[in-house]
Amino acid sequence: MRVAFIGTGSMGSLLIEAFLRSGALLPQSICASNRSQSKTKLLAQRHPGLHVVRSNVEAVQGSKIIFLCVKPLDFSKVIAEITDALDEKQIIVSITSPVEVGILEQLTPAKVAKIVPSITHSVHSGSSLCIYGKRIRPEDRLLLEQLMSSISTPFTLKETETRIASDIASCGPAFMAYMLQLWAESAEELTGISREDALKLGSQMLLGTGKLLTEGGFTTNQLIDRVSVPGGVTAQGLAVLESGLRGVFDRLIEATHRKYDEDLSKLHTLFGPLSSTKNP
Ligand SMILES: NC(=O)c1ccc[n+]([C@@H]2O[C@H](COP(=O)([O-])OP(=O)(O)OC[C@H]3O[C@@H](n4cnc5c(N)ncnc54)[C@H](OP(=O)(O)O)[C@@H]3O)[C@@H](O)[C@H]2O)c1
Repeated sequence: MRVAFIGTGSMGSLLIEAFLRSGALLPQSICASNRSQSKTKLLAQRHPGLHVVRSNVEAVQGSKIIFLCVKPLDFSKVIAEITDALDEKQIIVSITSPVEVGILEQLTPAKVAKIVPSITHSVHSGSSLCIYGKRIRPEDRLLLEQLMSSISTPFTLKETETRIASDIASCGPAFMAYMLQLWAESAEELTGISREDALKLGSQMLLGTGKLLTEGGFTTNQLIDRVSVPGGVTAQGLAVLESGLRGVFDRLIEATHRKYDEDLSKLHTLFGPLSSTKNP
């Protein structure tokens, strides 16, 4: 089975590298195209056998699954290029949240899925957000989920939930890293521990917390209760977080949704009257 990647920038190449490392795909089964040739050439040098093609149409031809890893505003151009080369047995996978499955179904004869990945897949973890179009059969879904399971935990959701789920699963690593950074800066400033050591401790703590919440059988409340004994140090810290953080996530969600709606409006202009749904 050949799998194509159109767009080998940050996410396209991350997915290729992760699939190769997991053994789910061999270089010979991957075909890649990118607007500028330098990125695909580099991939071919690193992974002998990986097919690099000069056009997106060539990438589509003979591929069972085609990952579209371009930015939202580049979608209409790519779709216009490849649509005549696609048939109803092929599966196109959009990795970008604002491009709607229904639009891609109207513009191409292919089966359509949206799978929003996360940088965490480069270390074979995190959730991949899966939304399936009407033409996707159970066997197609199985195929996609087998592939995505090799680098992530597939999570099926409604398209209207894509934005908020992407905030958590996909933008989340940046949000968490930012908070850790602020914490480490304060730690250095107020106590003298080096920022580097504080970051090392914090990173291991995040890893362990994630494990406790996924495989360790803890809920968030149980974890808070277990660590925070009444009258203890953790309780003092939690009280500060309660007063400072409440409301922050409301504003964060409002901001990401506002930007998403702006991107959707730009896409509506590019795709014309076909584009429809807005995020709730
Ligand atoms: N970054 C994340 O953590 C993340 C997570 C989930 C989803 N996403 C989504 O993934 C998508 C891609 O993001 P990215 O960070 O990978 O962007 P990126 O690094 O800019 O990569 C996009 C790639 O698409 C190529 N491209 C543009 N137009 C093309 C065309 N007509 N034909 C072939 N290739 C074309 C670009 O080529 P050039 O080399 O010529 O510029 C570039 O290499 C975005 O929609 C983003 O929302 C990102």
